Amino acid sequence: MGFTDKQEALVKDSWEFMKQDDIPQLSLRFFSLILEIAPAAKNMFSFLKDSDELPQNNPKLKAHAVKVFKMTCESAIQLREKREVVVGETTLKYLGSIHLQKGVADPHFEVVKEALLRTVEEAMGKKWNDEMKEAWAEAYDQLAAAIKAEMHAEA
Ligand code: HEM
Repeated sequence: MGFTDKQEALVKDSWEFMKQDDIPQLSLRFFSLILEIAPAAKNMFSFLKDSDELPQNNPKLKAHAVKVFKMTCESAIQLREKREVVVGETTLKYLGSIHLQKGVADPHFEVVKEALLRTVEEAMGKKWNDEMKEAWAEAYDQLAAAIKAEMHAEA
């Protein structure tokens, strides 16, 4: 499904706005929401396994959070320009195998989606609206579908 200029702008502009906030704080919030929705997801992340608390400023935690946000944002741009998500061939293969290897399954993508939408909602405050939610959800769904397809191809 194609994406309108407006939808692309909603995702891009909100990500730009959020980035001015404290990124480590956003990453922590994103991960606490993931664990709140699905506590069992904790054991999948090498950097969360052995601690009871979320590690403040852990570079891996921050990297995963930022990757998910950034790639969803890129996905929005591609959906508008090309009507499909284009992640480089190698990257997509890599993304498929790393998630498969770590025991990630399809339902986890819904958990991450929920956490992502709630993180953006909180960060945007009064600027958040249904249209923005739809745009982020669609961009994420298309990206997740591409990763899941690669996971299924490999499994
Ligand atoms: C690793 C992106 C969804 C769990 C990674 C890496 C990337 C990435 C780029 C590699 C990081 C590196 O090698 O430095 C994404 C994107 C997602 C997504 C774009 C959604 C569209 C998920 C979901 C889960 C998950 C749903 C499960 C809750 C993991 C785990 C690792 C990983 C456990 C390995 C991290 C580690 O322990 O070092 N992800 N991911 N990801 N991802 Fe995701």
